[in-house]
Amino acid sequence: MIDRYRKYLLRRLMTSGDTLYRVGGSAHSAEGSPAAGTGIERSSEPASPWLTPEDGRAKQERESIRGAALFSSPADPPGKRTESASGTIRVGSSKEQPNLFGEAENVTLVDGLEGLDLVALEKMVSTCTKCPLCDGRTRAVFGEGDPRAKIVFVGEAPGKNEDLEGKPFVGRAGQLLTKILASVGFTREEVYIANVLKCRPPKNRDPKEEEVMACKPYLKRQIELLNPALICALGRVAAQNLLETNAALSVLRKNIHFYEGVKTLVTYHPAALLRNPNLKRPAWEDIQEARRIYDEALNGI
Ligand code: URA
Repeated sequence: MIDRYRKYLLRRLMTSGDTLYRVGGSAHSAEGSPAAGTGIERSSEPASPWLTPEDGRAKQERESIRGAALFSSPADPPGKRTESASGTIRVGSSKEQPNLFGEAENVTLVDGLEGLDLVALEKMVSTCTKCPLCDGRTRAVFGEGDPRAKIVFVGEAPGKNEDLEGKPFVGRAGQLLTKILASVGFTREEVYIANVLKCRPPKNRDPKEEEVMACKPYLKRQIELLNPALICALGRVAAQNLLETNAALSVLRKNIHFYEGVKTLVTYHPAALLRNPNLKRPAWEDIQEARRIYDEALNGI
């Protein structure tokens, strides 16, 4: 895998005149010129397929200067997250309960889906009537990708196009997501993409609490079956619901979290990047960080 990724970087360098940046110890290509002192080394003017040189440059430079104070070592790039006692959130459904002898024991909570494999789970989701969203759906959107993928991207909920096609992230935001993945050498087929909600909320409104609660066990079982090394939460709604928090996305982005024991990184939703190109640059740092963690996990570093 690492060889494939190296070859991919080399190919991009030779064909597009990209820059190689070293982020957190691994080489990536990027576009634009990060400010000095960020720990991201620049070797020439780069080109990323989805980030234009103007995207968020001024803001990024401001953030880099501010960001320098936030990271423990000057070598840590602003995109690098740490597990900190104060910022890291751990979500898991096992809890301590007293056993027969009054001793604390970890008990895993069950939700009735534990016997299902991905195929059976998808079938169940396709006919789900646990919340009123089933009335308005054309198709439930279970998720797609490689069932052996070690990285899972979790978005918010299907939109109009996704509802029609039964596939996640196929609209404009989805096209940008595909470019973002490609910029660090992932194809859609080799990752897995899912959503917090499997059915489209009317007019793409935010998911309601009861809809999230109804769908939650599906995503939990799905992730348990996929058993990834890394989850990448796309946007506030995905991050807050996965991590069961009201903390702001800008805060959650700064740390590595754990969902059911799986490392979880938070970044902006591609739709937010379409609305606000200033967010593309920090998102570019995030996806490089995701790639780095993925590579480390695959190589057992
Ligand atoms: N936005 C999401 O969060 N998910 C999709 O599948 C499409 C758009």
